[in-house]
Amino acid sequence: MRFDVLTLFPDMVEGPLSTSILGRGRQAGLFELGCHDVRAHGLGRHKVVDDTPYGGGSGMVMRVDVVDAALAAVRRPESRVLLTEPSGRRFDQAMARELAACPHVVIICGHYEGIDARVREHLVDDCVSIGDYVLTGGEYAAMVIVDAVARLLPGVLGNEGSLAEESFTRPGLEYPHYTRPRTYRGWEIPEVLVSGNHGRVAAWREEAARARTLAIRPDLALPEPEAPVKGKRAARKATRAATPGADATGPTRPVTGPVDDVPETAPRPPPPVTLDEGAPSE
Ligand code: 6GU
Repeated sequence: MRFDVLTLFPDMVEGPLSTSILGRGRQAGLFELGCHDVRAHGLGRHKVVDDTPYGGGSGMVMRVDVVDAALAAVRRPESRVLLTEPSGRRFDQAMARELAACPHVVIICGHYEGIDARVREHLVDDCVSIGDYVLTGGEYAAMVIVDAVARLLPGVLGNEGSLAEESFTRPGLEYPHYTRPRTYRGWEIPEVLVSGNHGRVAAWREEAARARTLAIRPDLALPEPEAPVKGKRAARKATRAATPGADATGPTRPVTGPVDDVPETAPRPPPPVTLDEGAPSE
């Protein structure tokens, strides 16, 4: 598949996406990525890309004609065109999978100051946000989207097993991983992992993933499995035992595992956030 990113800062996007796993995948021809400077389509000698807002107010607004010209240079009939902006549809793993099935994804990086609303109204298929916070521009969002989509493409991760294992079989957070040394500064690894008993290891991982999900991201947790549950106390005890940091004091660690498959039915509390902070509203 191919990605084209339209931005005022192409180097910012090009660099990170030429590094590490994605850089290798790109080199190997597993996907294509073009980063294009919108300013190349700017007006006049100064390559102007924005103007003052109709109706007055502070800040500058990116021009629809300039964006249209930049888009026309890369757009094909089969393109899926996205605009990054904080008020867009929330990007998630389901959208990443959806995009991974597209032959061509174009991402227009929105601008902190604003972009003429006719871009959203007439030129793009979807507006996408990567979370409830405000960034200075859509470049980081574009990189996040390209990364999340490209890693799903065949061959990019190199080890297809890790995809299958981490994400698609089990919704919610990953189980914790450990490697040598077995003891470090007195910090032990769970004994079961060196038991050599694959069944017990698998069961422990299952439970640890579940407990972490409940403790850190309860919104991602699936309903209890159908297996008979002995009692709430026993269940709570098992949960505590399987999850370091998931005791009564609540989560104390950052989420380190991928959130790879958000169950469609998971309840999400309404986010009490305002996304027009810093926008040129007055
Ligand atoms: Cl897509 N753009 C900006 N500027 N801020 C964001 C965002 C996008 N997603 C979350 N915050």
